[in-house]
Amino acid sequence: MSQIIIKTPEQIEGIRKSSQLAGNTLKYISDFVKEGVSTLYLDKLVEKYIRDHGAIPAPLNYHGFPKSCCISLNEVICHGIPDEKTILKNGDILNIDVTTILDGYYGDTSTMFTIGDVSEAAEKLVEDTEHALYLGIEQVKPGNYFGNIGFMIGRYAKAKKYSVVYEFCGHGVGIDFHEEPQVEHICPKNSGSKMKAGMIFTIEPMINLGKARAIIDEKDGWTARTIDKKLSAQFEHTILVTEDGYEILSDVGDYEIFK
Ligand code: MF3
Ligand code: CO
Ligand code: CO
Repeated sequence: MSQIIIKTPEQIEGIRKSSQLAGNTLKYISDFVKEGVSTLYLDKLVEKYIRDHGAIPAPLNYHGFPKSCCISLNEVICHGIPDEKTILKNGDILNIDVTTILDGYYGDTSTMFTIGDVSEAAEKLVEDTEHALYLGIEQVKPGNYFGNIGFMIGRYAKAKKYSVVYEFCGHGVGIDFHEEPQVEHICPKNSGSKMKAGMIFTIEPMINLGKARAIIDEKDGWTARTIDKKLSAQFEHTILVTEDGYEILSDVGDYEIFK
């Protein structure tokens, strides 16, 4: 049986450094996210920034993923592949998901950006999805059930008449890209195993304006879109369970996400 790793202080420091680099990569790229640029241009800058800081972009060649980060526009839920043809335009919302390997340790974080005049519904979805992530994070403390993360996110999303993606989950992270456990974003109260100090995992809710279902692009095998092509938003942080609560390892402070 695979188990949830309790990280040592040395591992925690390594994962903290990698997560800070991932967060700082998002902060850095935020200056370049604007109307008219291609997602491949952003991917190249992300790759260079990560390598210039002595790290490796984890997505590159991960199970055949061809680029250094995921960029997911509008109806794309996650795992969008940066390319030359996808040009940011007025009204778009997008997620950039960065995972770094620094001295062998993984940090994983993503954020949304909005381009120009987005619809009121899109702006609310982005704000509410970030709020949903923080409702999940507030559940992190030793002795609490993993299920209460997804319970709080699911209840909030339902009250706002959104749906929560259930086909992709958060995950243990740090020594490897995807470790135990799977962190569900919608689930029953007090379900799953209990959190312990020293565990590190992501919370990364994907919330949709329409139906929850995801469909994977048949041609590229990665891009996950909403079944009804309605908008989807996602935010992600890497979280450490501390003795009395949590530390958001990938938090690097505020920066502008409305462009
Ligand atoms: N960063 C994503 C996550 O949050 C995983 C991307 S896998 C990739 O788990 F291969 F698409 F990069
Ligand atoms: Co993740
Ligand atoms: Co990620």
